[in-house]
Amino acid sequence: MPTLFDPFRLKDIELRNRIAVAPMCQYSAEDGVPNDWHLVHLGARAAGGAGLVIAEGSAVSAQGRITLGDAGLWNDAQAEGWQRITAFIKRHAVPGIQLAHAGRKASAHRPWDGDDHIAADDPRAWDTMAPSPIALGGGLDRIPREMTDADIAQAREEFVAAAKRALGAGFEWLELHFAHGFLVQSFFSPLANHRRDGYGGSAEGRARFPLEVLAAVRDVWPERLPLSVRLGVTDFHPGEQPLEESIALVRRLKSIGLDLVDVSLGFNTPDVDGVPWGPGFMVPIAERIRREAAIATAAGWRIGEPRHADAIVRNAQADLILLAHAELSDPHWPYRAAHALGLPRPHELLPIQYAHWLNGREPAVAV
Ligand SMILES: Cc1cc2nc3c(=O)[nH]c(=O)nc-3n(C[C@H](O)[C@H](O)[C@H](O)COP(=O)(O)O)c2cc1C
Repeated sequence: MPTLFDPFRLKDIELRNRIAVAPMCQYSAEDGVPNDWHLVHLGARAAGGAGLVIAEGSAVSAQGRITLGDAGLWNDAQAEGWQRITAFIKRHAVPGIQLAHAGRKASAHRPWDGDDHIAADDPRAWDTMAPSPIALGGGLDRIPREMTDADIAQAREEFVAAAKRALGAGFEWLELHFAHGFLVQSFFSPLANHRRDGYGGSAEGRARFPLEVLAAVRDVWPERLPLSVRLGVTDFHPGEQPLEESIALVRRLKSIGLDLVDVSLGFNTPDVDGVPWGPGFMVPIAERIRREAAIATAAGWRIGEPRHADAIVRNAQADLILLAHAELSDPHWPYRAAHALGLPRPHELLPIQYAHWLNGREPAVAV
């Protein structure tokens, strides 16, 4: 059985270990262009020892941003901005990016400015659209416009154009954001999709847009490079699709070119009372999907303890461990984890500028 620190190969890409930095929006871009903050944020975590660093959910269009601070990949200036960041990450880890369209969650204030919708009459607000004219609720109470067939085709093509730009910008791993109440997720969820046409209604109709986006992106994303999807497989809510339906979708996505599923939550409703928050609470579901859909799987959510992360990989519950808060609190988490797990030369995970001095030392011991 592999361990957390064994390499992981997917297509032509080999990660030096099974630790992935989860995509984390920084809400710090201007006009969608990443800047020094993104270089330092992602660069520090690449140098910190993770095998894969997935850049934040980046919008495929201006309309698809959650906030005005979201990074994007809908124009060449943004792709250029990413280029020097991928070049730096590549010295240490594999650079990935998540492509997103926020759907009915778009046009919001940054989390530290309220996390709610910008008032519709505020000149900074923009048009939001979704499969059905239903607001998410909570602070995101703006009713989105119901998408036409032309809107749907356009959104799909925006994912394709952004995928091409991601390749040109040097990314080697592409993740599509089909989770967390964003546009593609909301097509799949009966909580958000009340359409009666071919893009809604039955499980088949609700799966159509995710399948079309994946197929169109796979056509332009090279076969030799991994394509993953972050899929919201459950909302822990009585009105959701059965888990079997999510597993069936994963199987179909796999059959048209999906390489790995990053198992996550739906967040199609602000009512999250049923979510069984706790360390690694998504892991049993990730394990089931890995087994029943026979596909490489990433698991995240409330994982931060090295032995726990290692056990998930050793027990074949997931192939990759995705860390957000743990990496925010310590970009050198992989180094500390290697030390905690008793690996012989943990400092070798770090660049020579640090490794030279840390050789043989306990982490964080004062001189
Ligand atoms: C600052 C921040 C930004 C995030 N942005 C994204 C994002 O862009 N895309 C995404 O899929 N999840 C995003 N998430 C969710 C994380 O990727 C992760 O799934 C979640 O925090 C749970 O993992 P954790 O328990 O290790 O923090 C974000 C989380 C944080 C804390």
